[in-house]
Amino acid sequence: MTKWTPSSWRDFKIKQQPIYNNKEELENVEKELRSYPPLVFAGEARKLKRHLGEVVDGRAFLLQGGDCAESFADFNAINIRDMFKVIMQMSAILAFAGGIPVVKVGRLAGQFAKPRSNATEIIDGVEYPIYRGDIINDIEATMKSREANPNRMIKAYNQSAATLNLLRAFAQGGFADLNEVHKWNMEFVKNNSFGQKYEEIANRITEALKFMEACGINTQNTKQLQETEFYTSHEALLLNYEEQLCRKDSLSDKYYDCSAHMLWIGERTRGLDEAHIEFLRGVDNPLGVKIGPNITKDEILRLCDALNPNNEAGRLNLIVRMGANDIKNKLPAILKEVVPEKRKILWSIDPMHGNTIKASTGYKTRAFDNILDEVKSFFEIHQSYNSYAGGVHLEMTGQNVTECIGGSQEITEANLRNKYDTRCDPRLNATQAIELAFLIADVFKRK
Ligand code: PEP
Ligand code: CO
Repeated sequence: MTKWTPSSWRDFKIKQQPIYNNKEELENVEKELRSYPPLVFAGEARKLKRHLGEVVDGRAFLLQGGDCAESFADFNAINIRDMFKVIMQMSAILAFAGGIPVVKVGRLAGQFAKPRSNATEIIDGVEYPIYRGDIINDIEATMKSREANPNRMIKAYNQSAATLNLLRAFAQGGFADLNEVHKWNMEFVKNNSFGQKYEEIANRITEALKFMEACGINTQNTKQLQETEFYTSHEALLLNYEEQLCRKDSLSDKYYDCSAHMLWIGERTRGLDEAHIEFLRGVDNPLGVKIGPNITKDEILRLCDALNPNNEAGRLNLIVRMGANDIKNKLPAILKEVVPEKRKILWSIDPMHGNTIKASTGYKTRAFDNILDEVKSFFEIHQSYNSYAGGVHLEMTGQNVTECIGGSQEITEANLRNKYDTRCDPRLNATQAIELAFLIADVFKRK
């Protein structure tokens, strides 16, 4: 293997990159970013890796979720707060049902670059370069807006810093108080006619909190009930940006990509001899790789060799995204061959990207039932191969959008137009996300 440097990816074949017309402008932005402070500290990434190692051992569960794509336009405190709130609510439900800690990783504070199926799109008869995420170009359909503009990287950095700042304040400043989080869940159960289905589990959490209080364990004297750890992640797609956020940690002498705690490689850019694998193999953060229905056992083992040569628990998260049908045929054969190899793999499920459909109204959508079905299959298949189903990876929002059909609100194809706000893929709304957590909790209970 050749020597790794933060820029060695530049010698490899690369997919899904923008073309920057003004090279000088690009280099100036890269230089500027290199001079900025890191967004996360290497010690935090190491701590997350330890927690993810506990997931691999079956002693914790990973909840990873957030927007498909963050945007400059939707950047405000309400959106950040509501996303944080839903993740905390889901986490309380899952931790109670599973009886284990939930490691919370947001898809935010940096989730700006999108891989796309086509390089261009036709709008009203005109062919435009495709929108690739706010860190690259603008969604507005004009030639100028769709041009890749390097200055957007600076804006994305600043938005990530401000988002992370607020998340840290929420996590440590009292907003994550378990009693408050539980009150939100009780409101959810009370205010939705369908929420009553979940009353039993919600009441059991109330009793558990009362019991702890009676034993003298409360938010005043127990930090764990008052604060939380909240980590960030995004797809490390735009390597011009990620490279500049690489820092050598003085404590460990290792490189970290300090744009987020955890980075992942998408299904379209995980080629073993390509730039994204080359870049991420050299940073010591926890990593994810998306794997679709065409993955083979050999590819998985080679991904492990390339990204986790020391077989460290918590380093590598394989994020299965096969779709509700394909997972049933494909995952059993994969696990049958991979589990005996004893690789330290954190297996999680992204039930979103294999279940995207086009509604008759033209909107991209996903059916809640298919999402739930893929999650359930994931748990069942892992159980039958003696492997641990360690987490879920979701596209969701704290807002009550209408982007995915179904759920107890019974969102129909005709409803999609009511509040369809996503920049890219359809997300679960706050109600659907909490409902999914209760339904996963049901699966846990039956284990
Ligand atoms: C994503 O997570 O937004 C994404 C594009 O996923 P995938 O690489 O699995 O298609
Ligand atoms: Co997506």
